[in-house]
Amino acid sequence: MQRMQFYKSKFNGLVVAMAVAVISAPAFAWPGSGGDVSAGKTKSATCTACHGQNGISVNDNWPNLAGQKENYIVEQLHAFKSGTRTNPIMSGIAKMLNDQDIRDLAAYFSSLKP
Ligand code: HEC
Repeated sequence: MQRMQFYKSKFNGLVVAMAVAVISAPAFAWPGSGGDVSAGKTKSATCTACHGQNGISVNDNWPNLAGQKENYIVEQLHAFKSGTRTNPIMSGIAKMLNDQDIRDLAAYFSSLKP
């Protein structure tokens, strides 16, 4: 009986650990876009020259990205890439990004404090 209790509590611990893992996972890629914040941070090195270290742009002509809506960033980068939105700077940059880069960058910039 004592032994059963031991196994049971161990099993409960496993269930709790699994639940925590499932619940906390979306926090890194909310709302489930498949974007990875830390990968996005690494990939943002080329973006920060204009959009700023913390996603706050360094001049008046370039937009802030910090705290911008994740899906909006994804949409805009796809629009630059496909040519439905054009800009001499961003069109060229977006063409070099693949779908995963776009998701990661969007996850990163949207996670920053505006
Ligand atoms: C040389 C400067 C420069 C660099 C580098 C740059 N951007 Fe931009 N970005 C701009 C400018 C300027 C605009 C505004 C374009 C327009 O007016 O349509 C812009 C617009 C955007 C927008 C749309 C913002 C909005 O509010 O609609 C996104 C998203 C964006 N950039 C993401 C990125 C990402 C991600 C990178 C790095 C991979 C990057 N940019 C690199 C200058 C830059």
